[in-house]
Amino acid sequence: MTGRICASAAGKVILLGEHAVVYGRPALAIPLQGLRAWATLTPHAGPFRIQAPAVGVDALLSDLPMEHPLARIVYLTAEHFGFAPPQALLRIDSEIPVASGLGSGAAVSTAVVRALAAWYGVEAPPEVVSALVYEVERIYHGTPSGIDNTVIAYGRPIYFVRGQPPRPLAVGGTFFLLIADSGIPSPTREVVLDVRRRWEADRERYEGLFDRIAEQVEAAHRAIVEGNAAELGARMNENHRLLQEMGVSAPVLDRLVDAARRAGALGAKLSGAGRGGNVVALVEADAAGCVAKGLKEAGARRVWQSTVHEKNT
Ligand code: PMV
Repeated sequence: MTGRICASAAGKVILLGEHAVVYGRPALAIPLQGLRAWATLTPHAGPFRIQAPAVGVDALLSDLPMEHPLARIVYLTAEHFGFAPPQALLRIDSEIPVASGLGSGAAVSTAVVRALAAWYGVEAPPEVVSALVYEVERIYHGTPSGIDNTVIAYGRPIYFVRGQPPRPLAVGGTFFLLIADSGIPSPTREVVLDVRRRWEADRERYEGLFDRIAEQVEAAHRAIVEGNAAELGARMNENHRLLQEMGVSAPVLDRLVDAARRAGALGAKLSGAGRGGNVVALVEADAAGCVAKGLKEAGARRVWQSTVHEKNT
């Protein structure tokens, strides 16, 4: 392959079920098609080089530590498909904020796998992309459930249970979402570890919380299939309450959730690991502007809109 190759991947948001998903309960996630990472491969004379200006990387592949996430995904992909990294320059660009629960790392890795596969003219089916990206997610997160790499590699709304093939969500209506960034980095690894410590200290209580979250996920799943936004909103609210009980919310997230509800959202909750990162609010289409305003007034750094509808199932 000699031409320029560009591939991309969407970010993601978890609708319901974070944390409990690490313990085998189901979760729902959707790709954020409007928020993307790109990998561009350009032929050049010389060994494989990686430029990712946003994270200050401009280096030969051979000069990066093997465990560097960008080096790792290149080596894993090359090994999987049985080729050597090409004589090319890999440029990474992303509009997904890092460490905010929107899947920035998994989207970058996914874009890299897709670009390399396209360069060599080989198919990269979603299950292969997902498995490769999972290996890199383990560097970031320790023991990830696999939900990020799965929803991003498949690029469609999913019902996810750890260790099982994802089920596509059958969406029975149109749902309007707002995703608001608290501006506080969300340390997924630490929060997941903290939940693990709490679970070890009081398994009965935490297993009970995970079960109640699973009930919300199942009810939300039914609401999505039926196109029932009011019901989905109620389940999101209850999921947030359970995440508060679990100890992973934070005043800044509660403030954003309250602001969204006061401004007319049907439901709102933290999304991702918690303690920072983002909240997701479900709104009626004509309320989106006012809820976005309410979120910004409550301190959201950025607010993105996304729609879940039958077309992207
Ligand atoms: O990467 P984040 O912040 O969206 O968190 C992932 C969701 C968790 O359930 C907290 C962890 C996991 O591996 O599923």
